[in-house]
Amino acid sequence: MTVYLNGQFMPIEEARIPVLDRGFVFGDGVYEVIPVYSRRAFRLAEHLKRMQHSLDGIRLQNPHNGAEWTHLIGELIARNDGEDQYLYLHITRGVAKRDHAFPNPPVAPTVFMMSSPLPTPPAELLRNGVGAVTAQDNRWLRCDIKAIALLPNVLLRQVAVDSGCAEAILIRDDAFMTEGAASNIFVVKNGILLAPPKDNLMLPGITYDVVLEITAANNIPHEVRRVTKQEVFSAEELLLTSSTKEVLAITRLDGKPVGDGKPGTMFAKLHQLYQEFKRDVMRQQPPLPPGKSQGV
Ligand code: PDD
Repeated sequence: MTVYLNGQFMPIEEARIPVLDRGFVFGDGVYEVIPVYSRRAFRLAEHLKRMQHSLDGIRLQNPHNGAEWTHLIGELIARNDGEDQYLYLHITRGVAKRDHAFPNPPVAPTVFMMSSPLPTPPAELLRNGVGAVTAQDNRWLRCDIKAIALLPNVLLRQVAVDSGCAEAILIRDDAFMTEGAASNIFVVKNGILLAPPKDNLMLPGITYDVVLEITAANNIPHEVRRVTKQEVFSAEELLLTSSTKEVLAITRLDGKPVGDGKPGTMFAKLHQLYQEFKRDVMRQQPPLPPGKSQGV
């Protein structure tokens, strides 16, 4: 596996960062996850825009402009195997003596990128869906920043795994649903797809946006609004979305079946439309000439 670290491509075994990196010491950084289909980064411009939002949120200057990112990402894809990949981008505030305040003068940020095989859900999970648990959303009030400090998400996800489930659905203030520990959540109620609004309490998912675009384009009834805890528990269907899981049905919640316990008609429709969208925008374009990277 070839990774990128601070200006150089190298085998992952050779990538090293100093222990005083603020990402290691404070979790002081942001990240992005970008799926790659047919060697093209999916929704690259949108991912780079969200990364800029995250960087602005932690007051860290973007080390590269869009053209530079596009070039580096193209190189990373070309240097790794697989038509479909999953890219991880990671930027920290750099290496400095331990002090909570920002280094003054600023130091060079640490920029790391790697590519792995894209772990899209196997057919069995698409057929049967996955289990989820509900958990109290005890994270901070800037969940719109894709921060590398993920301890709350790690602990919440582990609650799900300890119960044999794939995801934790997070409930804020014992009242409304925000998202999953590592995904966005949609609820189907009275045949309408309900999506929580993109605010400071959830990550503005790129897959979430694609699903809402597809929904609007195909006249599927939907509403973007707060979704109550009661609506989650009485949902006809629950869906989760993320760059790596795409669209997946949640068929058990807290040990009870969701609807009839099988992936429902909304899931089937959205999953199919998502695959078609992917195919149309990613796979049917002419292949990139060697050495040429895609534009944003
Ligand atoms: N996580 N909400 C949270 C908290 C997430 O961590 C993610 C994705 C999402 C979905 O966003 P998108 O559709 O842009 O992937 C929502 C990635 C996959 C991760 O941390 O690995």
